[in-house]
Amino acid sequence: MAVDFTGLKILNTAAEGRHILDLFDADSTRAQTFSAQADGLFFDYSKTNLDAQQKAALFDLLDVADVATKRDQMFTGAKINDTEGRAVLHTALRNLDGDDIFVDGSGVMDDVLNTLTRMTEFANGVRNGDITSSSGAAFTDVVNIGIGGSDLGPVMAYESLKPYSDGPHCHFVSNVDGAHIHDILKDLDPQTTLVLVASKTFTTIETMTNAETAKKWLVAKVGEAGVSSHFAALSTAQDKTAAFGINPDLVFGFEDWVGGRYSLWGPIGLPLMLGIGPDDFMQILRGAQAMDTHFKTAPWDENLPALLALTGLWHNQVCGYATRAVLPYEQRLVRLPAYLQQLEMESNGKRVAMDGADLPFHSGPVVWGEPGTNGQHAFYQLIHQGTRVIPCEFMVGKYGHEDDLAHQHELLVSNCLAQSEALLRGRSLEEAQSIMAAKGFEGDELDRQARHRVFPGNRPTTTLVYDKLTPFVLGQIIALYEHRVFVEGVVLGINSFDQWGVELGKELAVALQPVLAGKEDGAGKDGSTLNLVNILKV
Ligand code: F6P
Repeated sequence: MAVDFTGLKILNTAAEGRHILDLFDADSTRAQTFSAQADGLFFDYSKTNLDAQQKAALFDLLDVADVATKRDQMFTGAKINDTEGRAVLHTALRNLDGDDIFVDGSGVMDDVLNTLTRMTEFANGVRNGDITSSSGAAFTDVVNIGIGGSDLGPVMAYESLKPYSDGPHCHFVSNVDGAHIHDILKDLDPQTTLVLVASKTFTTIETMTNAETAKKWLVAKVGEAGVSSHFAALSTAQDKTAAFGINPDLVFGFEDWVGGRYSLWGPIGLPLMLGIGPDDFMQILRGAQAMDTHFKTAPWDENLPALLALTGLWHNQVCGYATRAVLPYEQRLVRLPAYLQQLEMESNGKRVAMDGADLPFHSGPVVWGEPGTNGQHAFYQLIHQGTRVIPCEFMVGKYGHEDDLAHQHELLVSNCLAQSEALLRGRSLEEAQSIMAAKGFEGDELDRQARHRVFPGNRPTTTLVYDKLTPFVLGQIIALYEHRVFVEGVVLGINSFDQWGVELGKELAVALQPVLAGKEDGAGKDGSTLNLVNILKV
């Protein structure tokens, strides 16, 4: 049954003008009753303007949309991606101890575990020097060529887990802009570089173009014969990897039931496994598996993915806040906002429901962010005093990895907590006036100066707290967000697992290339596009 946000909107309107601090005054246990934890991951949503009645009404959405049934269908291999006729089984890639899962009557776990073993053997071989370059030298560098889901997950996780990185240096090329690959290859030695071509489809133009560039660079130094030992492929399209000249022994395959933006857990994670080692990679899978179990078994009011989803739906669909900031107080999560942009916006940025009918409400919000404290010195001004409300998701660890810099970590944590406190309480005109009066201002000028220093406060935030950003915790966090997207998608009644919205631009780019090259005249193009073509044509 389609959900309806009308009742929730009425509840929201009825509470208009209420301050979140009033909710704390009314309930001394609010910090406990509006928070939950899963295997050490703690989620606080008490600093939102949600009361118990609204929360209960949000939980009703899960029943109306039958999230539990759809969740179980996903985990058991039903073809819930019904515009592509595919199962959605990224969870199988971390189903390390679970029962087999069947797609079209065939079990998938043997292949999943065999591929994981092959990846492990390969990664160990490269890391310990048993698998070498064509000259017999150990590989010192790995270049992953991929884009979207074949880039964002591995690069985000690699950056996040730098303290665990003890293998070859990993580099990530994604953009078709030649500057990207140029700037990376120029510092590398082809003799000791392993190139991973990461593409689910092995047709993505950016990746295939960069892969050809890398091949030329490599062949110029190590010869054509070197391709078979310096190139590996991570793909579902084994026929196409062979046509590119990749040694079949170095193709790590997966199935079409792993969506690109959900693919970090299998072969697409190979650069990460090479960088941090198979044991730590397994810990990422273990963390994700723990979150899968939590998602499947925890009651909704203790279920982190459900709670993140419901606060998200409340802010976007009910309150009408169009964007959401993700603010990790963890420098190494620098690429997490970009990763979440694909995960959330490619998944839930849809305009029609499963049955093709127009959505009667907005789909997912714009997701953006930066690590704190850098964001504080850039865009937090807008978050604190801008005229639109931007719900913020803070995340922070109790410990950093740098024991000798614990004092800096303390400062980081206090900044994180101070920001959500400031957004909650704000600063009233009276408080601002007394500050300015103490500085010697009087009369109209006192009032004018004070008004600039008012913080409305009452701005909703959530905080995700973990112990330390270990591989296990990273796996938990990523799986948490995956399932949050899933729950939101089910409630909205959309297909979170296709991405038709990226196709038109791709097609037009292919058609524009001959126009830019002067081989076609661009008949039928609009005036602006033609004018820009003329300006940019070389
Ligand atoms: O941008 C569209 C998209 O299909 C993403 O969903 C995907 O992650 C990316 O392109 C890369 O695709 P592939 O792994 O097939 O090269």
